[in-house]
Amino acid sequence: MNIYEIYTLRLIHIGTGVFWAGAVIYLAAFINPAVTAIGQEGSKFMQQLSRTNKLPMWMTILSTLNIITGFRLLMIRSGNFQADWFTTQEGLLFTIGGVLAFGAYMIGLMVSKPAVDRMAKVAEAIAKAGGPPTHEQVQEITALKAKLAKGVRLVAWHLAATIVLMALARPM
Ligand code: HEM
Repeated sequence: MNIYEIYTLRLIHIGTGVFWAGAVIYLAAFINPAVTAIGQEGSKFMQQLSRTNKLPMWMTILSTLNIITGFRLLMIRSGNFQADWFTTQEGLLFTIGGVLAFGAYMIGLMVSKPAVDRMAKVAEAIAKAGGPPTHEQVQEITALKAKLAKGVRLVAWHLAATIVLMALARPM
């Protein structure tokens, strides 16, 4: 462990955390409700958003970097996982925050990302067929949108709690 490693890890950890948590909370609190309010056009916007500048890919890369750097920082701060550290204020709060962020990461990977990928496939099939979407396709898109919105809300709450815990963890 050296000072350059710590600064590099913190820079990547905080930078990726700001992007990941900020983007998900913004999606859950503002974009999703707006998309729901405008109905059919909203679905088109969501499909376009998930294709623009590879948003799902960036979310995956940056959240993965956040988890890896967080884990390494946890390892360093706990002196290689010394049990005593985990019972201190900072040990407890950084660990609970980390577990919540890891939960958010798993929900993102196992619920939100598959829903976005499937939505893109259905949209592609609709575009290829040329005509209006079939009844089944409309139903599937509606179900996927609801699943995605629920997943994004859940991830947003986990990450909001992580922010609070990470901010309060370090003693005065
Ligand atoms: C979106 C998720 C996350 C956000 C927004 C976030 C944010 C932050 C911030 C702002 C700090 C600086 C706190 C301070 O210096 O007082 C920090 C530090 C830290 N975080 Fe996270 N974090 C996230 C996820 C994680 C995860 C997943 C882990 C563990 C697996 C983790 C472990 C740590 C540790 C150990 C530190 C202390 C680093 C040091 O030695 O300065 N964090 N985090």
